[in-house]
Order: sequence, then structure tokens, then C-alpha cells
Amino acid sequence: MHILHDQPAELYSTFRLKTRLATVIEVGCLADLEQIDSSSSAPLVLGEGSNTVFLQAQTRSIVRYTGANITETWLDDGHCLLHVEAGHNWHQLVTATVKRQLWGIENLALIPGSVGAAPVQNIGAYGVELADVCAYVDYYHWQTKSLQRLTTSDCNFGYRDSVFKHQLAGKGIIVAVGLNLTILARPVLSYQGLDKLPATSAVCDIYQQVIATRSSKLPDYRQLANCGSFFKNPVISGADYQRLQQRYPAIPGFKQHNSQVKVPAAWLIDQQGFKGYRHNDIGCYEKQPLVLVNYGNGCAEDLLTLIGQIQSKVCQAYQITLEPEVRLLNSDGQQYV
Ligand code: EPU
Repeated sequence: MHILHDQPAELYSTFRLKTRLATVIEVGCLADLEQIDSSSSAPLVLGEGSNTVFLQAQTRSIVRYTGANITETWLDDGHCLLHVEAGHNWHQLVTATVKRQLWGIENLALIPGSVGAAPVQNIGAYGVELADVCAYVDYYHWQTKSLQRLTTSDCNFGYRDSVFKHQLAGKGIIVAVGLNLTILARPVLSYQGLDKLPATSAVCDIYQQVIATRSSKLPDYRQLANCGSFFKNPVISGADYQRLQQRYPAIPGFKQHNSQVKVPAAWLIDQQGFKGYRHNDIGCYEKQPLVLVNYGNGCAEDLLTLIGQIQSKVCQAYQITLEPEVRLLNSDGQQYV
């Protein structure tokens, strides 16, 4: 276990607002977790910080699980269960599985962050989400100091949503994820950008295409600080969508199972003229305005101003309130609303 004091937040959040973190505790195994005193207040759990923005200096202790071992179990029918510890980097895991010709997470290539963070917001891209391959999540509870194995149905996965954001928020830490992969080809090519690939594509062709598509649209956080999509794509009723369509015939929408419609936040923001727009050192990325970027010296105030400007223009035009997808935290680790 490593305990680090007074750390620069830029090292722990890919949005890189300049502030300080009082204590960061890195734990590598369950025995380390058992030593953490959570009796007065539960620590804040952080992965690689690719979906977390520290708006203020953080006084709450932060815990990062760094164990990254993988164990695999083969089943007779060509299926493979990977047990991956939470500290493993997600993209490196995808790369390793693709190299071994395993199908299941190739569409999720290049998503920043750790394996432990993946179930929290049910990461998704190009027609696949974590829920499609997740066999279980191992969760350590601060209060009882015990480990629980949650099934996929216990996880209550939804669009960028899970039990870890609700009933289990702040209650513990994800220590491992079980993934169902297979050597049997099962390409998911429905999403725009992959739909030109032949149905016979190899798993590495899809992986390469996802990387090429993402790289052409999304900024690399190492070069330009960002947290990926900043807002969720709003899901509205079919009736509301039809009303909007009468006024804005070009508005895109994707039907969901329950007759609701998912509208791309990028379109709503783009139509309001935000592409490439900048408020001081915080802006909307020029190729994908749903991604907010920090040009280097952005501060929390600038970020909150830009969020407010985007939300109010979109709400005025479409009566839709955009919800941040990114976790915005105040000084005691609580979600800023
Ligand atoms: N669009 C515009 N202008 C733009 C870009 C996009 O109008 O500049 C519209 C187009 O209509 C386009 C639509 O937005 O068809 C959707 O755009 P895109 O395919 O880029 O996807 P997205 O909905 O903006 C989502 C995820 C991404 C994920 C991609 C690909 C969310 C909030 N975002 O973005 O996830 O990579 O689909 O599957 O669901 C992330 O969560 O950080 C993330 C990057």
C-alpha cells in the first residue's frame, strides 16, 4: 500500500484542472483494502481519472486499486472467462484479447481508463457496451469489509449507468471484473463507421477500424486534456421527439427498445454553434463538440461557465436538459450538481 500526500490533481484526472488532492492511497490487493479505515467516512474511489474532474482541492481520501492480474478459464464450447483485476488498463486489455483472437470487446478499443471503472458507467462504443460481455463484478464493501460477487443482473446496467452510481455509490470499491469472451466470430458492425467492413472481418480488423475512427474524431487526452463525451446523449419520449422533428426535420434520433428516442447530444450542441467554441481555456473540441477540452490553463469556473452556456442554449432551443456524463466533484468528493 502506498500513501501519497498533497498530490497535483493533474496527475489523476485527464481533464487536468490544476488543484490538489490531500491523500491518495494506492492499494494492490484485498489485504491492503482491509487496512483502510473507513469508519468515519468512506474514501473516494478513482481509476485512471478519465471520467472525473476535480473542481476544487480534494479533502476526502482517494483510493486507487492497482492490482492488475488476469486469470482465464476456458469452457469446452470455445468460450473463455477472463477474471481481470480492477487496476488493469482497459485498452491494454482489449489489445491483449484481440491479439489472442478473442471476440467481445474489440469495439471498445481505445476507451481510456481502468477495468474497474468500466462497469460503473457501463462503458460503451460502436454498438457494444460492457454489459454485453460482463459475467460478474467483484465488489468490496467498506462497511462490512467483505467481498461480494455481483451478477450482471445485480449490476442493473443501463445507458452509462449501473448500480454503482446508485444503491452502491460510495459503499465500496470494484476489485475485479469477469468477462465472457469467445473464439467464435461475432462481429458487431452496425454502428456508423464500422458498417463498411465486410461481415467476414477478423477481430483485429474491427479493432483497427475502431481505433482509426476514434482517433479521427476524439482528441488524445495526453495531447489535449479531456474526459471524452462530456454529456450523456439524452433519451426522450417518442412524442417529444416527433414534436422536435416537426420544428427541426434534420434532428437525428435512435429508437430505443421502449419507444423512447436517443438524440445525439453532439448534434444539439453543434447546432447551437459550439463546435470549436472556447471560453477562456476551456472549449468544445472542433471535430466533436460533445467533448470538452482544457487547452492548458482552464479552471473550474471557466468549465462551469461553459457547461451552463451549453445547457441553457440547448434547453432553450429543444427543451432538453443535458446531463453531464463526467463525474464533477467538489472538495469533499461529492458530486457537483
Ligand atoms: N454529430 C454532430 N456533430 C458532430 C459530431 C456528431 O451533429 O460534430 C451527431 C451526428 O448526428 C452523429 C451523432 O452526433 O451521427 C453521433 O455522433 P458519434 O457517432 O460521434 O457518437 P456520440 O453519440 O457523440 C457516443 C458515445 C461515445 C462513443 C461513440 C461511438 C455517449 C455520451 N458518447 O458518442 O463515448 O465513443 O458514441 O460509439 O454516449 C464517451 O463516453 O466518453 C465516449 C466518447
